Amino acid sequence: MPTSRSEAIFARAQTVLPSGYTRHLAVTKPHPQYAVAGDGCWITDVDGNRKIDFLNNFASIIHGHAHPVITRLIADQAARLLCTVLPTEWEVKLAELLVDRIPSVEQVRFMNTGTEAVMLAVKVARAATGRSKVAKMEGGYHGQYDLIEASFQPPPALWGDAARPTPVAHSVGTPQSLLDELVLLPVNHLEHTRARLRAEAANLAAVIIDPYRLQLGLVAPSHEYLAMLREETARLGIVLIFDEVFCLRVGYHGMQGLLGITPDLTTMGKIIGGGMPIGAVGGSTSLMSVFDVDAGEPKVKQSGTFTANPLSTATGYTGMTLLTPEVFDQLAARGQRLRDGMTRVLRDLGLTGRAEGVGSFSGLLLTDRPTRNYRELAAVMADGLGDRMQAFQKHLLAEGVLTMRGGFIGSTPMTDDDIDFTIEAVRRALVKLHA
Ligand SMILES: Cc1ncc(COP(=O)(O)O)c(C=O)c1O
Repeated sequence: MPTSRSEAIFARAQTVLPSGYTRHLAVTKPHPQYAVAGDGCWITDVDGNRKIDFLNNFASIIHGHAHPVITRLIADQAARLLCTVLPTEWEVKLAELLVDRIPSVEQVRFMNTGTEAVMLAVKVARAATGRSKVAKMEGGYHGQYDLIEASFQPPPALWGDAARPTPVAHSVGTPQSLLDELVLLPVNHLEHTRARLRAEAANLAAVIIDPYRLQLGLVAPSHEYLAMLREETARLGIVLIFDEVFCLRVGYHGMQGLLGITPDLTTMGKIIGGGMPIGAVGGSTSLMSVFDVDAGEPKVKQSGTFTANPLSTATGYTGMTLLTPEVFDQLAARGQRLRDGMTRVLRDLGLTGRAEGVGSFSGLLLTDRPTRNYRELAAVMADGLGDRMQAFQKHLLAEGVLTMRGGFIGSTPMTDDDIDFTIEAVRRALVKLHA
């Protein structure tokens, strides 16, 4: 007999869903805890357990759960107009907002997910340059497009030369002909990267990078590396794509605003939907002209049943307008409070590790070894850090804190008290981890 409602639901789930679920990343063993309600930064499961939510649906709900303005907007919009093939003004308003805030964006095109945004950005770059290859960082995550998901977590046996990493399929069955179109770059290695870009330039349409983090927050491209990418791609006529699907949340002008580096194209998603599914590509008017239909056949053809639907664009616009510069400052202050608190806990307990992050994103990495690129991180993880981080995540969950791989994604409803509660939960989880 199941001892909880979650266990009972999971028994049914295993019959109708492979392994019992669709998204496995945040699932705990022996069974997931099924959510039933959310309120601010707290989430409640079917058995009545409450957790502070530092995952925020993989960083998409920056206003947490059931924000009254967003909830009301969704109800009103759903009652008025759920979806239609006619455009609505919401699409224009959200585009205007993004053009106003994000330095690289003069025009925007909407889709339904970050994965689609990445896929379309690659099409724009190919159409604009007439070249076919695309470069990404070894270990970079950009969603599930089979070309760009390759080498997200390749095993060491398949890495190849550090200067010219070998593309490794992320899913079995990915055609080799597709992998042949991928150029892998070693993040933070300036010379290898520069040499590779120069050698491949004639066939290289784009370089895509998450300018904030690779591997869910565990590897950071340096400013120097990003500046070199900007300079080299501009010189070689390669389209530089900043994938800000995740990191747009770090500031009012996105990560590019903080860095002072402007890419050619920006992919967006998550927070710009206010909690509803969305994706977007933005760039200069000249690059975005590949979508123009007025001059005849567009170079890139894009549409879609739910693309730019009124619910996502209305919720996105409303959620984004709530994110004023002052609100971003407050998110960053709470993020810093958490990072300072976790640093204090590590020191009090005499543990090695580091608490890092920008704005509302904080990461706790339980090692003092460097993780400057995917290979260094993979080596540290294989050396026991991976298991310890997983155990830490489980202890944190038992302490009422929902996280993943040491990442803490903040939201606007979080108060100083919530942050202090979390710091103490981290302390207890670390004590248990080292017991
Ligand atoms: C940097 C980055 N790019 C793209 C994606 C894919 O977005 P989606 O899950 O909406 O397809 C993600 C998702 O986590 C992401 O973090």
